[in-house]
Amino acid sequence: MSSRKKLVIGNWKMNFSVRQATSYAGKLAGKQIPVGVTVGIAPQALALSEISTILQKTGLKLAAQNGFYKDEGAFTGEVSMTMLRGISQYVLVGHSERRHILRESNDFIREKNAAAFRNGIIPVFCVGETLTERHNYHTNQVLSDQISLGLADLTAEEVSKTVIAYEPVWAIGTGEQAGPEDVQHAVEKIRTEVTQLYGEAAGSAVTILYGGSVTKDNAGSYLMTPGLDGLLVGGASLSVQTFWPIVEAAGESVPKKITVNKKER
Ligand code: 13P
Repeated sequence: MSSRKKLVIGNWKMNFSVRQATSYAGKLAGKQIPVGVTVGIAPQALALSEISTILQKTGLKLAAQNGFYKDEGAFTGEVSMTMLRGISQYVLVGHSERRHILRESNDFIREKNAAAFRNGIIPVFCVGETLTERHNYHTNQVLSDQISLGLADLTAEEVSKTVIAYEPVWAIGTGEQAGPEDVQHAVEKIRTEVTQLYGEAAGSAVTILYGGSVTKDNAGSYLMTPGLDGLLVGGASLSVQTFWPIVEAAGESVPKKITVNKKER
């Protein structure tokens, strides 16, 4: 698993005007992406269309921060996955800020994961326990419920393409850092759960990210977690200076292939 590509996505949340977002995306578009790393950014909805044009012919991927579960109709204020089709390659689903502030349920999230695949978009499906759940030793149960309910409408093939982000709620935007053993435990739990529900192939293929107060200083140690495929970064993704070193750390965590010098052969 350690030889797999790494994925780093910057979730800009509700930050930047369209002008600021496009200007920042333009700066990232000029960066050299390390070998073995996929990099994505998740700007606010109004900037997606313009940024998708800026990112054309760069390796950078675009993620929407949200998308509705119905494709069209009388749903005032919503943006559907159908509208995102062809613009973003990924969509965040079930982010804890939407689960807790906007009261999104596991059922709603399940339908969004299905809508993403129906429209050719990869969901970045976020799971994680609150501080109270952690203190009550409910982490395993929460992860197991969120995964079984959230993925229930997907085929094993779709699950194998899904990105699952473990984002413990208590470590998001708090500066509170999950320890390597917390992350390792969650990664193992998620893979076991997916394997039990969808089989070995899906369990080993599913991409697992960690998110929660990731910085350039701690990224390298998280990336050493066995079975972890990358990072979902919030606050530290808001400037080139704090985000790109995380992308570079992901590049350094990918084992280098032994290159044979032609002259020596
Ligand atoms: P922070 O990195 O700011 O803690 O946010 C994490 C997150 O919610 C990414 O989706």
